[in-house]
Amino acid sequence: MYDLPNAIRKLRADFVMSGAQILEIARLFKGDMVSGLSGQKSSLKMIPSFLTRPTGEEKGTYLAIDFGGTNVRVLLVDLRGRGDYEIRECRAFPLTDPSGGFDFKSENSDITDLFGFIAKQIEDMVKPGCVYPLGHTFSFPIRQLGVNRAILLKWTKEIKTSGVVGRDINEILADSLKKQNLNNVVPQAVINDTVGTLLAGAYNDLRADIGSICGTGHNTCYLEPRSPITGGEMIINIESGNFDKLPTTKYDMQLDSASEHPGEQRLEKMVSGQYLGELARIIIQDFVDQGLIFNNKDTGILSKKHNFRSEDISQLLSDDTPGLANVSGWLGLRCGIHDSLLEERVILRSIASIAVIRSVQLIAATYAGILSHIDPEFCGVHTIAVDGSLYELTPGYSRMLQVTLNNVLKRKDLVVTKLVKNGSGVGAAIAAALVYN
Ligand code: BGC
Repeated sequence: MYDLPNAIRKLRADFVMSGAQILEIARLFKGDMVSGLSGQKSSLKMIPSFLTRPTGEEKGTYLAIDFGGTNVRVLLVDLRGRGDYEIRECRAFPLTDPSGGFDFKSENSDITDLFGFIAKQIEDMVKPGCVYPLGHTFSFPIRQLGVNRAILLKWTKEIKTSGVVGRDINEILADSLKKQNLNNVVPQAVINDTVGTLLAGAYNDLRADIGSICGTGHNTCYLEPRSPITGGEMIINIESGNFDKLPTTKYDMQLDSASEHPGEQRLEKMVSGQYLGELARIIIQDFVDQGLIFNNKDTGILSKKHNFRSEDISQLLSDDTPGLANVSGWLGLRCGIHDSLLEERVILRSIASIAVIRSVQLIAATYAGILSHIDPEFCGVHTIAVDGSLYELTPGYSRMLQVTLNNVLKRKDLVVTKLVKNGSGVGAAIAAALVYN
């Protein structure tokens, strides 16, 4: 059996990659992008969006639905041109609310219940007699048949709602609007949240050509210079969360085999907020089982699946007190452990940090792969528009991502990663504007 310092050293060696390893993943990722684009076997679906970049001069008032993994938001957005926009109204509700008596994520729930609920929210936001073009961000793998036609291929992020896989999302939405007599709300576009984030980022930044979500789920899109469909520029939703040419550990295997869809979304399961807490929990539990920490105590939430979340990771990482007093408080409150040793608290924080570093490195590798596809000589300047709680709220995440990219690309001036908040909602409004005008 390893002693504690050795165990953590081994964990770091298994998880944290060298620059050369990151570049190798970037190369494999680019290879799968190229195969996917040309219709060959690939772990990347490379879904066409039928949209290109906005000019920043699109104007008007648009409705947007942002259907992610945790919440649904309905927004009324004013696009004012010159890259300026305002969210006039925004209503958000969780997909699961035990106190409200609904769980739209469960297999017992039907998609028409959910879309009916959304249509009711919209009814309160619109005035009769005015026409509202609507953009719909639907953040799951879809087969996009046109800008306004999208068939759900599979659920991700552990959602199981019935009656949707294989169906046209927009048709279901249009039916729900009709049932609510909302004939003045006209769906124009269905987009992925990464596409929305890129559109919102590009609305006021001409250099934005990559959009990414680092939140509950993970995925990236980019502006393809030569789309196989038009031969010209088109935003492509990579569905990068399904990338599978990755070095995995026994912990990744354990997490994957206990998930809803084993073998799928391998990258997403190694990097995103939906899974990062669970991954850290599995590692911590393994350390407990080996007798390395907490001396066979009952570790409360740590022994139960999905009880440790990415918010917990953020809490552990944000403790900068000398004795890790906040980690100690967290252990008492969440795990019922009131007499932890400093050494154990340090280990807990190291495990969280190692999981986060690998998440950053893997995502940086995919960005490097995309950059080497769109700009092989690295002669342009690129903005990567990023949205999502992992990127925004995990201590150090955004800075580490930028630094890792700079180091891997050996350039400080090539790429800027920047937070585009509410990107997927605002982007849906921009998509509606691009189609409507
Ligand atoms: C979905 C993507 C989405 C991402 C971020 C993934 O689970 O497959 O379509 O863009 O989550 O929300």
